[in-house]
Amino acid sequence: MKRIRTALIGCGKVGGLHAAALTTLPESELVAVCDATPARAEEFAAKYGGQAYRDVSTMIRESGAEAVFICTPHPLHAEPAVLAAEAGVHVMVEKPMAATLSDCDAMLRAAQKTGVTLSVMSQRRFYESVQRMKAAIDAGKIGRPILGLFLMFSWRDQAYYESDPWRGKWTTEGGGVLVNQSPHQLDLLRWFMGDLEEVSGRWANLNHPYVEVDDTAVATLKFKNGGLGSIVTSLSQKPGLFTKVHIHGSNGSSLGVETDRGATFIAGVSKIAQPPLNDLWTIPGEEHLLAEFEAADRARFQNIDPVTHYHSLQIQDFLQAIRDGCPPLVSGTDGRAVVEMFTAIYESHKTKATVSLPLTTSSGSSSNAS
Ligand SMILES: NC(=O)c1ccc[n+]([C@@H]2O[C@H](COP(=O)([O-])OP(=O)(O)OC[C@H]3O[C@@H](n4cnc5c(N)ncnc54)[C@H](O)[C@@H]3O)[C@@H](O)[C@H]2O)c1
Repeated sequence: MKRIRTALIGCGKVGGLHAAALTTLPESELVAVCDATPARAEEFAAKYGGQAYRDVSTMIRESGAEAVFICTPHPLHAEPAVLAAEAGVHVMVEKPMAATLSDCDAMLRAAQKTGVTLSVMSQRRFYESVQRMKAAIDAGKIGRPILGLFLMFSWRDQAYYESDPWRGKWTTEGGGVLVNQSPHQLDLLRWFMGDLEEVSGRWANLNHPYVEVDDTAVATLKFKNGGLGSIVTSLSQKPGLFTKVHIHGSNGSSLGVETDRGATFIAGVSKIAQPPLNDLWTIPGEEHLLAEFEAADRARFQNIDPVTHYHSLQIQDFLQAIRDGCPPLVSGTDGRAVVEMFTAIYESHKTKATVSLPLTTSSGSSSNAS
């Protein structure tokens, strides 16, 4: 099999997870690593291989990379993504796709122009517990998904916000819990329920006076399929408790996944201590399966490194999509939809009004700050 020449942009914490996948997957040959801080690029090159670069344009021009993996802070995703896509290089970008819709649209336009594959990380879609829910919903086992909940009660401390200069500020992070910690579950909620039609939301900083951005947000949702939804997402609970997505169907059945137990994991800092598990499964005749799912997922968890495993599965899906000329599981449009969800919550908070979707680049403000 011909390997795809891959390159990493942003040699920080999550960059290490990408590098681990790109040096072990049979579809990848890691040829270059790039960081604005040259010492970081050199450190990664020494550890994982590939040529070290400090400048994205030079790397794209000289390395012969066919696909790049962008692991810079979110407001710095669009520039390298557009450069790469316009040069005909496939792009996988970390979550969230960007901090603003205008950045997302620039990336989508560039990818469309040259026909490259654009994908966004959402590795929790690859959790077995999540895939099971999606398969049951797609098979019509809950009727129509009519009620969707995303609940996160997690925690970040002052040391976390001070660990990198870009965290906790509107200009360099683009937002708080909604932009950084919630995109995984926002993506799952939409994957299960479909597109949103209306959003009404509020945010606050309840427990982190040393940062500018939201540590808590709530929203009520109306989906295009007529279903309703609710979001309560917060980093203000110490210790962190859980993160869940629950979907209720028109036939009365309920499905749920606890994607994170305790505080959500921090790439490069913490481990994933407990397996993601289905915590609700009331499809008639299948109630007994919940215990079987739990046993299988607990057993699997003992035999994988959950921090790298699901990143690796999604990166492999992306590389295979390039090779086979088919769409990856998570598209650029999916990534944009998550940015649209948090943009709508910020916009609703700002205007104290219900926001109708879809949002265009000109329908929101350029900053998420109030
Ligand atoms: N999928 C996940 O579970 C997950 C987990 C953690 C982080 N992330 C995402 O990954 C991104 C990075 O987070 P992190 O915690 O690794 O941050 P980090 O600060 O540890 O790493 C970012 C790296 O990008 C480099 N960088 C900044 N500007 C650059 C530029 N213009 N060109 C090249 N390199 C540049 C920095 O020097 C740094 O090494 C964020 O968008 C974050 O939301 C995703």
